[in-house]
Amino acid sequence: MEYSNLNLSDDVFKKLKDMVYEISGIFFSDQKKYLLETRLSKRLSVLNLSNFEDYYNYLKYSPLKNAEIKELLNSVTTNETSFFRDMPQLEIFVDVLKQIVQSSADKSFKNIRIWSAACSTGEEPYTIGILIKENFPSSSIKFEIIGTDISEKVLESAKKGIYNGYTLRNASQAILDKYFEKTDDDEYKIKDEIKNMTVFGNVNLIDAKEVKKYGSFDIVLCRNVIIYFDAESKKKTIENIYESLKQGGYLFLGHSESLHSISSLFKLVGLGKTPLYKKE
Ligand SMILES: C[S@@+](CC[C@H](N)C(=O)[O-])C[C@H]1O[C@@H](n2cnc3c(N)ncnc32)[C@H](O)[C@@H]1O
Repeated sequence: MEYSNLNLSDDVFKKLKDMVYEISGIFFSDQKKYLLETRLSKRLSVLNLSNFEDYYNYLKYSPLKNAEIKELLNSVTTNETSFFRDMPQLEIFVDVLKQIVQSSADKSFKNIRIWSAACSTGEEPYTIGILIKENFPSSSIKFEIIGTDISEKVLESAKKGIYNGYTLRNASQAILDKYFEKTDDDEYKIKDEIKNMTVFGNVNLIDAKEVKKYGSFDIVLCRNVIIYFDAESKKKTIENIYESLKQGGYLFLGHSESLHSISSLFKLVGLGKTPLYKKE
């Protein structure tokens, strides 16, 4: 069957984009119709379906619909990420972490929990692990890093922890030598000392119940995900994150994201190189 000429009609586009939105909060504007069309045409090909209407009906009524919804989410998400993606922000992250470490110095139970919400293929949580090892080499504190995402495909890849040179382009040779092993295929496998600090799980950020699964956190990084949401899903996500932060906890967003006109729950405490939000 020839799939390159498949057309997504306006009517079916609306049904599919509404479904994606209901499930994930991801909003495809009319201008992004081509994107949905391109991303989903591969699924039609895999399922041997001849048009998008049949695909929509498959998602709605097939006995295998739950498995296909996972594939749908793998297909519609944008998973771009890399190690040490935003160094100026990571420097602020380390400063914030130092403050939290200091303030927990007089507590007997020392446990700091960091959540990479929407972690994609794992570069962000592993970057955090490396920064912790570099900055707190002999700390008695237990650092826990939780990486979550809505796409199961990226989580599988995150759990493997094997990366190509491109996604590690911002890592120095010293970091590569210290925290990665070279594989036979010339790729880089993250070492167990970092992997063992990190737990991965499937969490949909717009679902309040799912967000509660992993308990409460000192720091949440929710970077480059709410840009794909409309105002309503952004608000829901931020409320869910607020609930999962400890009192005094911090939220980092991507550098092009802000809570302006979305939520007044947080106090904006840093604006310089990066917006930084605090739950007071
Ligand atoms: C561009 S990546 C960001 C990765 C990383 N945070 C970074 O900044 O490098 C966006 C990720 O958000 C995830 N995502 C999209 N909608 C989501 C939702 N409703 N719940 C959880 N994750 C979601 C996607 O699967 C994707 O992996």
